[in-house]
Amino acid sequence: MVASGARKAAIIGGGMIGGGWAARFALMGWNVRIHDTDRDAERKINAILESARAAMPGLWDVALPEEGKISFHDDLAEAVEGAEWIQESVPERLDLKHEVYAAIQSACTETAIIGSSTSGFRPSELAEGAARPGQIVVAHPFNPVYLIPLVEIVTGPGTGEARIERIRSTLRDIGAHPLFLRREIDAHIADRLLAAVWREALWLVSDGVADTAEIDDAIRYGFGLRWAQMGLFETYRIAGGEAGMRQLLTRLGASPNLPWSKLTDMPELTDELVETIASQSDAQSGRHSTAELERIRDANLVSILRGLKTRDWGAGRLLNATDRRIDSAPKGLDALSLTGPLPTGARAVPLDWSDHNGHMTEHRYLQAFGDATDRFLGLVGCDAEYIACGHSYFTAETHIRHLAEIRAGARIEIDTQLLLAEGRRMQVFHRMWESSRLVATAEHMLVHVDLGSRRAVAPPADLMARLDKVAAAHAHLPRPEGAGAAVGRPLDRKSETEAGPEAD
Ligand SMILES: NC(=O)c1ccc[n+]([C@@H]2O[C@H](COP(=O)([O-])OP(=O)(O)OC[C@H]3O[C@@H](n4cnc5c(N)ncnc54)[C@H](O)[C@@H]3O)[C@@H](O)[C@H]2O)c1
Repeated sequence: MVASGARKAAIIGGGMIGGGWAARFALMGWNVRIHDTDRDAERKINAILESARAAMPGLWDVALPEEGKISFHDDLAEAVEGAEWIQESVPERLDLKHEVYAAIQSACTETAIIGSSTSGFRPSELAEGAARPGQIVVAHPFNPVYLIPLVEIVTGPGTGEARIERIRSTLRDIGAHPLFLRREIDAHIADRLLAAVWREALWLVSDGVADTAEIDDAIRYGFGLRWAQMGLFETYRIAGGEAGMRQLLTRLGASPNLPWSKLTDMPELTDELVETIASQSDAQSGRHSTAELERIRDANLVSILRGLKTRDWGAGRLLNATDRRIDSAPKGLDALSLTGPLPTGARAVPLDWSDHNGHMTEHRYLQAFGDATDRFLGLVGCDAEYIACGHSYFTAETHIRHLAEIRAGARIEIDTQLLLAEGRRMQVFHRMWESSRLVATAEHMLVHVDLGSRRAVAPPADLMARLDKVAAAHAHLPRPEGAGAAVGRPLDRKSETEAGPEAD
């Protein structure tokens, strides 16, 4: 189903980068219109979308909006009509980009933002001869656009504060991190840094110091890990010891080894050097197809990003902020009807939750159901504030039934029925759905605990009253199929008692 009234984006040039933008906008609920002169673009974009659907929604711990509608248009004017954001991602040729902006500006609204994915051009170059120069800004993303949050924004004198604010809020809305450059410069910030490392890497191969695999190892076993979470300066600050950056700079300034770098000149890419690098790369990575490498890359990136999320640090902090912004789930009982099970979870299955069988791995069911229990407890008032005051529920027993396979990227919803709330004990029954398909259930017995004595105690009257209210409403619901079932033997409690444990 497509969300009605969705915001509209147009993608002009749907290659690797345009396809990534299309996926990010659409998975964040925008309707996306794509114009590309290549007839094969639709097939390529569908492949990018498939990868993005598996990887991107699971970055967050709440459900994203309904996916927007994606359409392909031979006519550029039709694609940009009514679009709020138009992202140009045609090949890196200035004359071609100028041609495209002229066509866009003769058909789009004056309020639309035109972002260019250009890796190298400045906004002043892009806007040469444009009808409305201030409308065109650099919005430089990183591949894969649907996972890497950074977008470098370079504006010009005509951009204006109001447009800058809209750029900031729009990119935030699609889960990206806009980095505004203070002034324009060829290749912006990140590609200049990458160019320096790339140049040194080419020299190291050219001089026979290292091959491509050794250089990659120097990055991925070493400083690449540091860079992903702290960047350059914060990492070096630690290297400076207690005195921090000043100490580091003083020490480095006195180093007799500098300069280590070849600094500015590039090795000539002779046929021989090209062949050396290409054959080393074949030896290093040729056992994987490009599509396989893309899948490996996406899974690794999701794991890293979600790892940073648990640390609420760097790019993970951005993901947490987006969770809070898009979480529309009710926070208390007042906003809910108690006549049915309560909604206690809606999310996509993260890519790093799937196992070698290609479906959600066992312990992630417990994670999803554990989160649902937390959400249920929050709804009845046993939230972080309550726990900070010295009481909580501990889980004493769990029984999970795995009823159907579920894959990465799939949207799951969990609802919860309260089976029992008596004194210290509470019993809940969760159902996990993918659309109308029941994929798993979980039954938990919880005990209310005094966190000081670590002993089971009855909950206070106000919490008990809220639980009684839910329990009274849920008493009218049929007992869920599977409640009270023993492992491998779905018996009701009576026959279980009568039969006793099976002899074998
Ligand atoms: N590849 C990267 O890693 C990367 C990263 C960041 C930014 N960029 C920038 O993004 C832009 C696109 O790069 P890419 O790697 O996606 O290239 P690409 O070759 O994969 O895609 C370009 C697409 O534009 C289409 N196209 C060509 N002329 C067109 C026209 N007149 N109208 C509509 N579509 C047209 C092509 O058919 C193709 O599908 C470039 O400016 C590049 O510098 C690339």
